[in-house]
Amino acid sequence: MTERYGLAEAAIKIIADRRSIRQYTDEPVSEEHLEVILEAARQAPSGENAQPWRFIIVKDEATRKQLGAIAGGGSGRRFTAEFVTKKMHERFSSLEDEAKKKAIFEKLTSGRVSAFLADAPVNIVVCGRKDVWDLPYDTGAAIENMLLMVTALGLGACWVIAPCIDIRDEERLKNLLGVPEGFKVVSIVAVGHPTRAHRPRPRMPLNELVWSEKWDSPYYEEET
Ligand SMILES: Cc1cc2nc3c(=O)[nH]c(=O)nc-3n(C[C@H](O)[C@H](O)[C@H](O)COP(=O)(O)O)c2cc1C
Repeated sequence: MTERYGLAEAAIKIIADRRSIRQYTDEPVSEEHLEVILEAARQAPSGENAQPWRFIIVKDEATRKQLGAIAGGGSGRRFTAEFVTKKMHERFSSLEDEAKKKAIFEKLTSGRVSAFLADAPVNIVVCGRKDVWDLPYDTGAAIENMLLMVTALGLGACWVIAPCIDIRDEERLKNLLGVPEGFKVVSIVAVGHPTRAHRPRPRMPLNELVWSEKWDSPYYEEET
């Protein structure tokens, strides 16, 4: 039992320590580490055990640059849509510093936020079988397993969906990487050695997330 609690403590620490890391040193990711990360993905659950995921490891600099450009374009269009529909203003409504807000809006709508794929030593391009209904959930589980393993190994990673939202970008990715018909590109996981430690992003408390028996009846009264 004690040993189980020890494992649970280690697991919660890895889960809590995980951060989206978007800046990496030049140090390569070792083959040993890469294999453990991919093994974590392989062990993920999937509906009907379909295992619809496939992975393309991209290290080549020219290809990484193209991934960065496609991701930057996708992110820019997505955030521009958020800007014009005022969703972005809503998201940052608590930020009072107008100059800071303007700079954030500019950075987001420019797409620069997701262009860092170009500088990640490794990009794991997550693809999957289109005919599998549970593909988004299955690949989501595999990706989270990879992110946690990356954290356990002391590396950093970021889940990037920006280049996979727009069907035109997906076509670009498929051409670039030779992804066959019947498969789609779901997301990209950038991996590398973090340049610095990152503070955690805020999370909602459990008392705002969990209901008891019926919607709107808090399971936890106090903020946890
Ligand atoms: C489905 C999904 C898609 C994401 N896509 C992007 C992305 O395209 N670009 C990016 O920079 N971060 C992306 N992220 C990372 C989130 O921005 C990040 O998880 C969130 O801000 C919380 O920060 P944390 O991961 O450090 O806790 C994505 C995360 C998820 C789960």
